[in-house]
Amino acid sequence: MGIEALKVEAINLKVAQYWSVSVTEETTSTQIDLASNFEAGKVLVAEFQSSGRGRLDRKFEVPPRKGLTFSFTLDSSKYEHNFGWVPLISGLAVARAINKHAGKEIVELKWPNDLIIDGKKLAGILSEKNEKGLIVGIGINIYQSQDELPIENAISLSMKTKVDRSELLIMILNELGATLNNIEAEKNNYRKRCLTIGKQVSAALPTGEIIEDLAIGISNEGALLLNTREIRVGDIVHLR
Ligand code: BTN
Repeated sequence: MGIEALKVEAINLKVAQYWSVSVTEETTSTQIDLASNFEAGKVLVAEFQSSGRGRLDRKFEVPPRKGLTFSFTLDSSKYEHNFGWVPLISGLAVARAINKHAGKEIVELKWPNDLIIDGKKLAGILSEKNEKGLIVGIGINIYQSQDELPIENAISLSMKTKVDRSELLIMILNELGATLNNIEAEKNNYRKRCLTIGKQVSAALPTGEIIEDLAIGISNEGALLLNTREIRVGDIVHLR
Protein backbone atom coordinates (compact mmCIF):
# COMPACT_ATOMS: atom_id res chain seq x y z
CA MET A 1 0.00 0.00 0.00
CA GLY A 2 1.28 3.48 -0.86
CA ILE A 3 1.78 6.35 1.54
CA GLU A 4 -1.42 8.26 2.27
CA ALA A 5 -1.70 11.73 0.69
CA LEU A 6 -1.82 14.75 2.99
CA LYS A 7 -5.39 15.80 3.78
CA VAL A 8 -5.13 19.48 3.00
CA GLU A 9 -8.78 20.36 3.79
CA ALA A 10 -8.71 18.70 7.19
CA ILE A 11 -5.37 20.34 7.90
CA ASN A 12 -6.71 23.81 7.13
CA LEU A 13 -9.76 23.20 9.31
CA LYS A 14 -7.67 22.16 12.28
CA VAL A 15 -4.81 24.65 12.21
CA ALA A 16 -4.89 28.06 13.86
CA GLN A 17 -6.47 30.61 11.52
CA TYR A 18 -3.17 32.40 11.07
CA TRP A 19 -1.94 29.62 8.77
CA SER A 20 -3.07 29.04 5.20
CA VAL A 21 -1.80 25.64 4.05
CA SER A 22 -1.34 24.38 0.47
CA VAL A 23 0.14 21.12 -0.70
CA THR A 24 1.93 20.62 -4.01
CA GLU A 25 2.95 17.22 -5.41
CA GLU A 26 6.20 18.54 -6.82
CA THR A 27 8.22 21.73 -6.91
CA THR A 28 11.84 22.81 -6.95
CA SER A 29 11.92 24.08 -3.34
CA THR A 30 9.18 25.40 -1.08
CA GLN A 31 11.69 28.02 0.09
CA ILE A 32 11.94 29.42 -3.43
CA ASP A 33 8.18 29.31 -4.01
CA LEU A 34 7.28 31.22 -0.85
CA ALA A 35 10.08 33.74 -1.28
CA SER A 36 8.82 34.71 -4.73
CA ASN A 37 5.17 34.81 -3.67
CA PHE A 38 5.44 36.13 -0.13
CA GLU A 39 2.53 36.63 2.22
CA ALA A 40 2.93 36.12 5.97
CA GLY A 41 1.10 33.07 7.32
CA LYS A 42 1.43 30.88 4.20
CA VAL A 43 2.50 27.27 4.54
CA LEU A 44 3.57 25.30 1.48
CA VAL A 45 4.11 21.57 1.76
CA ALA A 46 5.77 19.68 -1.08
CA GLU A 47 5.45 15.95 -1.55
CA PHE A 48 8.64 16.13 -3.58
CA GLN A 49 11.27 18.81 -4.09
CA SER A 50 13.61 18.50 -7.05
CA SER A 51 16.04 21.09 -5.60
CA GLY A 52 15.39 20.93 -1.85
CA ARG A 53 17.88 23.13 -0.01
CA GLY A 54 19.62 22.59 3.29
CA ARG A 55 21.73 24.91 5.41
CA LEU A 56 25.09 26.14 4.16
CA ASP A 57 24.09 25.60 0.50
CA ARG A 58 23.66 21.87 0.87
CA LYS A 59 20.99 19.76 -0.83
CA PHE A 60 18.06 18.34 1.08
CA GLU A 61 16.61 15.35 -0.73
CA VAL A 62 13.66 13.17 0.24
CA PRO A 63 11.91 10.61 -2.01
CA PRO A 64 8.25 11.46 -2.86
CA ARG A 65 5.89 11.43 0.18
CA LYS A 66 8.56 9.92 2.41
CA GLY A 67 9.05 13.05 4.48
CA LEU A 68 7.25 16.10 5.67
CA THR A 69 8.89 18.99 3.84
CA PHE A 70 7.36 22.44 4.09
CA SER A 71 8.07 26.13 4.44
CA PHE A 72 6.16 28.88 6.19
CA THR A 73 6.35 32.66 6.14
CA LEU A 74 6.48 35.12 9.01
CA ASP A 75 6.09 38.87 9.24
CA SER A 76 9.70 39.85 9.97
CA SER A 77 8.74 43.05 11.82
CA LYS A 78 7.56 40.84 14.70
CA TYR A 79 10.96 39.18 15.02
CA GLU A 80 13.33 42.08 14.40
CA HIS A 81 15.22 41.51 17.64
CA ASN A 82 15.02 37.75 17.42
CA PHE A 83 16.02 36.67 13.90
CA GLY A 84 18.68 34.37 15.30
CA TRP A 85 16.13 32.73 17.56
CA VAL A 86 13.44 31.99 14.96
CA PRO A 87 14.99 28.73 13.71
CA LEU A 88 15.91 27.63 17.24
CA ILE A 89 12.43 28.25 18.62
CA SER A 90 10.89 26.66 15.53
CA GLY A 91 12.96 23.57 16.31
CA LEU A 92 11.68 23.58 19.88
CA ALA A 93 8.09 23.75 18.63
CA VAL A 94 8.60 20.94 16.10
CA ALA A 95 10.29 18.76 18.74
CA ARG A 96 7.38 19.30 21.13
CA ALA A 97 4.82 18.47 18.47
CA ILE A 98 6.64 15.30 17.41
CA ASN A 99 6.99 14.16 21.03
CA LYS A 100 3.27 14.78 21.58
CA HIS A 101 2.40 12.88 18.42
CA ALA A 102 4.62 9.98 19.46
CA GLY A 103 3.33 10.04 23.05
CA LYS A 104 6.92 9.87 24.28
CA GLU A 105 9.92 12.18 24.61
CA ILE A 106 12.11 11.00 21.77
CA VAL A 107 13.29 14.15 20.02
CA GLU A 108 16.16 16.30 21.23
CA LEU A 109 17.67 19.52 19.92
CA LYS A 110 21.14 20.16 18.63
CA TRP A 111 22.30 23.75 18.05
CA PRO A 112 21.50 25.39 15.76
CA ASN A 113 18.81 23.70 13.74
CA ASP A 114 18.82 19.93 14.00
CA LEU A 115 16.29 17.64 15.61
CA ILE A 116 17.85 14.47 16.88
CA ILE A 117 16.64 11.01 17.89
CA ASP A 118 19.12 8.53 19.41
CA GLY A 119 21.97 10.83 18.36
CA LYS A 120 20.86 10.75 14.70
CA LYS A 121 19.44 13.53 12.53
CA LEU A 122 15.66 13.40 12.17
CA ALA A 123 14.99 16.87 10.82
CA GLY A 124 16.59 20.14 9.83
CA ILE A 125 15.49 23.74 9.68
CA LEU A 126 16.48 26.50 7.29
CA SER A 127 15.57 30.11 8.04
CA GLU A 128 15.96 32.76 5.33
CA LYS A 129 15.03 36.41 5.13
CA ASN A 130 14.22 38.62 2.18
CA GLU A 131 12.92 42.19 1.95
CA LYS A 132 9.36 40.96 2.49
CA GLY A 133 9.83 38.72 5.50
CA LEU A 134 11.08 35.45 6.89
CA ILE A 135 10.81 32.08 5.19
CA VAL A 136 11.39 29.09 7.42
CA GLY A 137 11.75 25.61 5.93
CA ILE A 138 11.43 22.36 7.79
CA GLY A 139 12.37 18.93 6.50
CA ILE A 140 11.50 15.86 8.57
CA ASN A 141 12.45 12.30 7.67
CA ILE A 142 9.33 10.20 8.08
CA TYR A 143 9.21 7.00 6.04
CA GLN A 144 12.67 6.67 4.49
CA SER A 145 14.41 3.36 4.95
CA GLN A 146 18.02 3.52 6.14
CA ASP A 147 19.17 3.27 2.49
CA GLU A 148 17.03 6.22 1.49
CA LEU A 149 18.45 8.54 4.14
CA PRO A 150 21.16 10.91 2.93
CA ILE A 151 23.68 10.07 5.64
CA GLU A 152 24.32 7.07 7.84
CA ASN A 153 23.78 9.14 10.95
CA ALA A 154 20.16 9.96 10.12
CA ILE A 155 16.86 8.44 11.20
CA SER A 156 13.21 8.42 10.08
CA LEU A 157 10.38 9.02 12.51
CA SER A 158 8.55 5.86 11.44
CA MET A 159 11.50 3.84 12.76
CA LYS A 160 10.49 4.97 16.26
CA THR A 161 6.71 5.48 16.17
CA LYS A 162 3.57 5.22 14.06
CA VAL A 163 3.04 8.42 12.07
CA ASP A 164 -0.01 10.14 10.61
CA ARG A 165 1.56 12.92 8.54
CA SER A 166 -1.57 15.07 8.36
CA GLU A 167 -2.13 14.94 12.12
CA LEU A 168 1.54 15.56 12.74
CA LEU A 169 1.55 18.62 10.48
CA ILE A 170 -1.50 20.03 12.30
CA MET A 171 0.24 19.56 15.64
CA ILE A 172 3.43 21.13 14.34
CA LEU A 173 1.74 24.20 12.88
CA ASN A 174 -0.31 24.81 16.01
CA GLU A 175 2.75 24.41 18.21
CA LEU A 176 4.79 26.72 15.92
CA GLY A 177 2.11 29.40 16.14
CA ALA A 178 1.95 29.28 19.94
CA THR A 179 5.70 28.99 20.51
CA LEU A 180 6.78 31.69 18.04
CA ASN A 181 4.27 34.05 19.65
CA ASN A 182 6.02 33.61 22.94
CA ILE A 183 9.62 33.70 21.82
CA GLU A 184 11.08 35.57 24.83
CA ALA A 185 9.68 33.11 27.35
CA GLU A 186 10.66 30.12 25.20
CA LYS A 187 14.36 31.04 24.99
CA ASN A 188 15.10 29.41 28.32
CA ASN A 189 13.05 26.36 27.39
CA TYR A 190 15.24 25.99 24.32
CA ARG A 191 18.37 26.37 26.44
CA LYS A 192 17.14 23.67 28.83
CA ARG A 193 16.45 21.23 26.03
CA CYS A 194 19.46 21.91 23.84
CA LEU A 195 21.73 18.86 23.96
CA THR A 196 24.70 20.90 22.78
CA ILE A 197 25.08 22.94 25.97
CA GLY A 198 27.58 21.35 28.35
CA LYS A 199 29.14 19.23 25.57
CA GLN A 200 32.66 19.35 24.22
CA VAL A 201 32.05 20.13 20.55
CA SER A 202 33.86 20.38 17.29
CA ALA A 203 32.58 23.33 15.27
CA ALA A 204 33.22 23.63 11.52
CA LEU A 205 32.95 27.31 10.64
CA PRO A 206 32.01 28.68 7.18
CA THR A 207 35.63 29.89 6.83
CA GLY A 208 36.80 26.26 6.90
CA GLU A 209 38.25 26.66 10.39
CA ILE A 210 37.49 23.82 12.82
CA ILE A 211 37.56 24.49 16.52
CA GLU A 212 37.13 22.27 19.54
CA ASP A 213 35.73 23.77 22.70
CA LEU A 214 33.16 23.40 25.45
CA ALA A 215 29.67 24.73 24.62
CA ILE A 216 28.47 26.69 27.62
CA GLY A 217 25.29 28.44 26.51
CA ILE A 218 23.24 30.31 23.93
CA SER A 219 23.60 34.08 23.71
CA ASN A 220 20.75 36.51 23.73
CA GLU A 221 20.99 36.60 19.92
CA GLY A 222 20.83 32.82 19.56
CA ALA A 223 24.58 32.31 18.96
CA LEU A 224 26.40 29.34 20.51
CA LEU A 225 28.64 30.38 23.39
CA LEU A 226 31.85 28.40 23.60
CA ASN A 227 34.37 28.78 26.38
CA THR A 228 36.60 31.00 24.28
CA ARG A 229 34.31 32.61 21.68
CA GLU A 230 30.82 32.68 20.26
CA ILE A 231 29.70 31.31 16.91
CA ARG A 232 26.67 32.29 14.86
CA VAL A 233 26.96 29.81 12.00
CA GLY A 234 28.59 26.43 11.90
CA ASP A 235 28.30 22.68 11.88
CA ILE A 236 28.56 21.12 15.27
CA VAL A 237 29.62 17.64 16.27
CA HIS A 238 29.06 16.60 19.87
CA LEU A 239 32.29 14.99 21.07
CA ARG A 240 31.46 14.11 24.68
C1 BTN B 1 19.15 21.38 6.97
O1 BTN B 1 19.08 20.40 7.70
O2 BTN B 1 20.22 21.71 6.43
C2 BTN B 1 17.92 22.20 6.73
C3 BTN B 1 16.96 21.45 5.85
C4 BTN B 1 15.73 22.24 5.48
C5 BTN B 1 14.92 21.49 4.45
C6 BTN B 1 13.59 22.11 4.20
S1 BTN B 1 12.51 21.02 3.33
C7 BTN B 1 11.37 22.30 3.10
C8 BTN B 1 12.17 23.56 2.79
N1 BTN B 1 12.44 23.65 1.38
C9 BTN B 1 13.74 23.53 1.12
O3 BTN B 1 14.26 23.57 -0.02
N2 BTN B 1 14.44 23.38 2.25
C10 BTN B 1 13.57 23.41 3.41
